[in-house]
Amino acid sequence: FQVPPAVNEPVKSYAPGSPERDAVLKQYRAYYQGSEDIPMVIGGKEVRTGNTRRIAPPHDHRHQVGQYHLATQKEVDLAISTALEARKAWAALAWEQRAAVFLKAADLLAGPYRSKINAATMMAQSKTIHQAEIDAACELIDFLRFNVEFMARIYQEQPESSEGIWNRVEYRPLEGFVYAITPFNFTAIAGNLPASAAMMGNVVVWKPSDHQIFSARVILDVFREAGVPGGVINAIYGDPVMITETLLSHPDFSGIHFTGSTDVFKGLWKQIGENIGRYKTYPRIVGETGGKDFIIAHPTARPRQVATAITRGAFELQGQKCSAASRVYLPKSTADEILSLVKEDLASFNKPGSPEDMGNFVTAVIHEGAFDKLAGYIDRAREARDAEIIAGGGYDKSKGYFIEPTVILTTNPKYTTMEVELFGPVVTVYIYEDAEWTNTLRLVDETSEYALTGAVMATDRYALEEATRALENCAGNFYINDKPTGAVVGQQPFGGARASGTNDKAGSAQNLMRWVSPRLIKETF
Ligand code: ALA
Repeated sequence: FQVPPAVNEPVKSYAPGSPERDAVLKQYRAYYQGSEDIPMVIGGKEVRTGNTRRIAPPHDHRHQVGQYHLATQKEVDLAISTALEARKAWAALAWEQRAAVFLKAADLLAGPYRSKINAATMMAQSKTIHQAEIDAACELIDFLRFNVEFMARIYQEQPESSEGIWNRVEYRPLEGFVYAITPFNFTAIAGNLPASAAMMGNVVVWKPSDHQIFSARVILDVFREAGVPGGVINAIYGDPVMITETLLSHPDFSGIHFTGSTDVFKGLWKQIGENIGRYKTYPRIVGETGGKDFIIAHPTARPRQVATAITRGAFELQGQKCSAASRVYLPKSTADEILSLVKEDLASFNKPGSPEDMGNFVTAVIHEGAFDKLAGYIDRAREARDAEIIAGGGYDKSKGYFIEPTVILTTNPKYTTMEVELFGPVVTVYIYEDAEWTNTLRLVDETSEYALTGAVMATDRYALEEATRALENCAGNFYINDKPTGAVVGQQPFGGARASGTNDKAGSAQNLMRWVSPRLIKETF
């Protein structure tokens, strides 16, 4: 089958004075001055319960820009029954019709909704315009378009037949509904998790993070306008315990598509296990969770390249990427030069501030809980005997949740912040003796409880080969001479193993296969 070929959506530069920059800022200011009343969406209808919670920008937390409505048990039950009702027609629809809906959604995001999705992501997730553009616009558009291409390939994959025997496979959607739980840090992931399951003919109950509902609303508008029928993707907000207990104890629960923390994912897995006797079918469990992502530089690595990998890998989006570089191993011979370059980079940045100001590289972390946790680790590093702060270390939550990009240097390769996922703009550096390169690789492997992303930097081919082998289980996405962030859909399918997830690569045919239950039909003549 032919589908329109997927190509990566070009990233707009939003140069000063450009009409596209003006359009995003105009929308941003309209959001700032207004107050959005955000309903849940169940069966294509807006549902308001009157029980609401406020939305405030993380960089200006006293200023309310909206509120969203919280589900009671009734709305959760309604979301399930509505989804199951919608499944009858949606699962029976020709795949081309489903594909067309999501291709149209991609076009709407690329055109008329681009400023809105970017401005909403800047406002409530505190992303700079560039970080919003590569996530909320380009990556989400890419997920939709590439997944349509993967979907077409899946449906064409058919077994051999022989004379008198015709074998064929029907890629049926799962029998029941899929539960999508999505994070605050990527609008693209939030849109992709419900969309990829729905594309394969499933119906979805979607619970976005409370901190992403502002941009989730725009995604829901796009889905509706693109023609996703009511009931196919239902968005509910509120108490995660009540919502999850209801969904996971339902006999028609057929899969979970999750991105979030390792602890929450393990809890969900346990809950699914406890309910296993109730389900009609074994549910699909697909999760992308935490990371403690590394950069290891060999003595032959180019210092400027390593410094850039640290600055961009650790501090873009305030380090709030599961892929962010958060532990770094530098050789003694070049560590001083690399760290001086990182300090120069950081000194050239503005103080953390509003994403509206294009000069700001770093804005606010997502909420007070994240701020307090990070400030606590910074304070403890300041007092520690085996660690010191060599850059940044400042924080201030009087207006927004601002944490300065911070570099901790430790003499202990097992220092807390070398092991615990912080999810913020704090990176920890350990310096090894050059002669200890091989032992340091072993150390990285032994301390990789997570295995999401990692980077090795060297110009020596033998060193690159040695690291690539020694660290083969430490990262689902392994980078050579690059920062460990910024996977591009259609180029680097994304996901990790160990405590980082089920490694069902986002943006791949493998991921879409988790959302079908193939039926083999053998016909004999
Ligand atoms: N996919 C995101 C990245 O690669 C998390 O940085």
